[in-house]
Amino acid sequence: MDFLELCQRRQSCRDFADRPVEHEKLVKCIEAAGLAPSACNSQPWSFVVAENPALTPEVAKCAMQMGINEYFSGAKAFIVVLEEHAVLMPKLRCILDSQYFAKGDLGAATLSICLAAEAQGLGSCIIGLFDREKLCRLLDIPIEKQFGALIAIGYPASDKVRPKNRKTLEEIVRFV
Ligand SMILES: Cc1cc2nc3c(=O)[nH]c(=O)nc-3n(C[C@H](O)[C@H](O)[C@H](O)COP(=O)(O)O)c2cc1C
Repeated sequence: MDFLELCQRRQSCRDFADRPVEHEKLVKCIEAAGLAPSACNSQPWSFVVAENPALTPEVAKCAMQMGINEYFSGAKAFIVVLEEHAVLMPKLRCILDSQYFAKGDLGAATLSICLAAEAQGLGSCIIGLFDREKLCRLLDIPIEKQFGALIAIGYPASDKVRPKNRKTLEEIVRFV
């Protein structure tokens, strides 16, 4: 599969098959995340992978907010992307807050996880809305931690690829 096809196939999965996810595939997702680019190669990230079947339904409950995100109860794993301290070059540190680029770095790591999941036949969905405090308590994450993302992972119930609803190239780019 070429890279653009992988990007086309990756879609937010909200209906998961009742099939466990191999631990090795989750390790590969984290390996891909660790290869993402970051400012000054500071790699300001760490990950918590919930794969224990006794734990994953509890993580899903943290995502169920205001009557949405119920569908994540079928996910077989969750990856939490956490922000860590970024060490920038001294020159940059003088003019910028040390965490200035961290959010972008976490975004790159998050997409790498989703694409690595897709490349291995797994579905994924980034979850923005979740009960942060409840999740911290559940996964023993310090309450002061900044979150990059929570990602649901599992085999998709269907391999149908939905049409993408995206802005046109004309709307988003200007070649000069
Ligand atoms: C930061 C972020 C937060 C998101 N939060 C949720 C969420 O809480 N629930 C959900 O069902 N989808 C969530 N999504 C998925 C988006 O709705 C989805 O990426 C977008 O509609 C494009 O569709 P696609 O991923 O299938 O291409 C989130 C995506 C991002 C990047």
